[in-house]
Amino acid sequence: MIRTHHCAELTQAHVDQTVSLVGWVQGHRNHGGVIFIDLRDREGVTQIVFDSEKHLASHEQAHVLRGEFVIHVIGQVVRRPEGSENPNLPTGRIEVEVETLNILNASQTTPFLIEDDGHVTEALRLRHRYLDLRRPVMQRLLRLRHEVTHQTRCFLHNRGFLEIETPILTKSTPEGARDYLVPSRVNLGEFFALPQSPQLFKQILMIGGTDRYYQIARCFRDEDLRLDRQPEFTQIDMEMSFVEREDVLALSEEMIVHIVKEAAGVTLPTPFPRMSYQEAMANYGTDKPDRRFGLRIQDLQEMAAKSEFKVFRETVEKGGAVKALIVKNGANLSRSKIDGLIDVAKGFGAKGLAWVKIAQDWQLDSVIAKFLDSAALRQALPEAQPGDLLLFVADNVAIVHEVLGRLRLYLAEDLKLIEPNRWEPLWVLDFPLLEFDQETQRHVAIHHPFTAPREEDRACLESNPLEAQAQAYDLVLNGFEVGGGSIRIHQPKLQRQMFDLLGITKDEAQEKFGFLLDALQFGAPPHGGIALGLDRLVMLLGNTDSIRDVIPFPKTQRAQCPMTEAPSSVSADQLKELHIRQCTDT
Ligand code: AMO
Ligand code: AMP
Repeated sequence: MIRTHHCAELTQAHVDQTVSLVGWVQGHRNHGGVIFIDLRDREGVTQIVFDSEKHLASHEQAHVLRGEFVIHVIGQVVRRPEGSENPNLPTGRIEVEVETLNILNASQTTPFLIEDDGHVTEALRLRHRYLDLRRPVMQRLLRLRHEVTHQTRCFLHNRGFLEIETPILTKSTPEGARDYLVPSRVNLGEFFALPQSPQLFKQILMIGGTDRYYQIARCFRDEDLRLDRQPEFTQIDMEMSFVEREDVLALSEEMIVHIVKEAAGVTLPTPFPRMSYQEAMANYGTDKPDRRFGLRIQDLQEMAAKSEFKVFRETVEKGGAVKALIVKNGANLSRSKIDGLIDVAKGFGAKGLAWVKIAQDWQLDSVIAKFLDSAALRQALPEAQPGDLLLFVADNVAIVHEVLGRLRLYLAEDLKLIEPNRWEPLWVLDFPLLEFDQETQRHVAIHHPFTAPREEDRACLESNPLEAQAQAYDLVLNGFEVGGGSIRIHQPKLQRQMFDLLGITKDEAQEKFGFLLDALQFGAPPHGGIALGLDRLVMLLGNTDSIRDVIPFPKTQRAQCPMTEAPSSVSADQLKELHIRQCTDT
């Protein structure tokens, strides 16, 4: 190795030693006879000094050095002169007096400075990702991601799981997104789909007698991108045979606690609390509640039904819902602030946002105060107190939940209700098996079509399928869905019934999932599993708010890679070989 130490290693203990360091030139300060440079590698920074009085040749050479030049230096570790120490750096008490400088490579002037708090647009960062990745914060995230996968592998290996790869060129598994398709040259007119998840293969592995499978699996989904979504992302994907829901929950909980502790030093509170889907929707307006703060949604149906306020009463009469948030001590918010909240709520889809400030002795301060009965409100909202602000939405229940659920998150951010370093894991259980899609006028699976209903709901699959609950579970961490899974259907008859309910014809089922239906007929064991979103987990542990920061080479919101400029057009020859003609009239 060229180097004897890395750039965060040297301390006073090394004084007088001759060392050899390599790295990138960071700062460059020329004080006449002395040039100071911060030498950076993956681990950190060491100050190196070129002193014309001590080593004239290397000092002369050092004049050409510029930011991001790659150099190798040999020199002696010395104590920094008193007053020039930097207590914030591990190497801040020493410097290296360079005897020999070897320039390994030059660098052009970089389009941005390699530092953590530079204000650089994301487009520029992604275009020059190699420079972006040199920043300490990015190195920290790459390492965190590595620690998470490493700890995952250690944990699962010790529990008897086998790491098994499944195909990337395959048939699609329906996980609710559009497929990425790859044309087959050898089989003209036919396409592979990139897997939206390894779901069917992991089930087949169970039927293949593998018993416990895992994979750090790449998944591909052509869907609209958001802050926590990428078209290409990674799951910690697992499946187990001969298990019930509780077994999967217990093992995954233990695994997450282990990973998070070992990789990030975070201790999650255990056992993870559990909540039904119904309760999550009613109290938090979402199936992924952020429980790091209160501000639960309050139901006001009864009060609203008798209210003199027309908006409330008529909403209830039309079958809608009236619900509210109690903003603690919110009565001191200004009118303009409240007007701002009204606009925010409208942006989320509300028709309006009624508000009331509760003053001394439950006097109501509001433009609609004259329509409201203070005593009735007080009775309906036992948690409310003078000094609080009430925010109401009246609409159909889906909109009420959507608006108040999002307003809750907005207020938490705006009013700084979330303590830093607080971790709130949560299992969300008891999901319905199906929902009715108004657009296509048919049932769709809430998780995926391979999720088993609860045993006791088997009967109602025929009579009232929307009543059936799934043996499914989601893991939520700080308001993000970081995992989901279920006990699967392992009997061919039930799987066929499920396809029927979803309006998938026999022929269609055979064509798309024939291999699964066939396999289920040959002694499929009961099985279940879960998949955790690795990127989302690392994003949360790394305390960054964009999933792109934890993916080394991510795509932009437009699903492009600014560095490679993928996707890109291909040559006419390539298309010809695939018998693909581009249509220009769409
Ligand atoms: P699901 O579709 O819920 O389940 O995905 C599992 C987890 O993967 C993460 N995730 C994503 N992360 C980043 N970008 C995306 N586009 C994206 N989509 C999903 C989420 C999610 O909780 N086969 C089933 C799992 C199973 O049943 O075992 C599946 O894929 O954190
Ligand atoms: P309006 O009767 O439209 O003048 O509204 C009177 C008050 O009720 C205003 O403060 C509106 O913001 C509020 N409001 C109107 N529609 C709704 C609704 N659907 N839910 C909650 N508040 C509403």
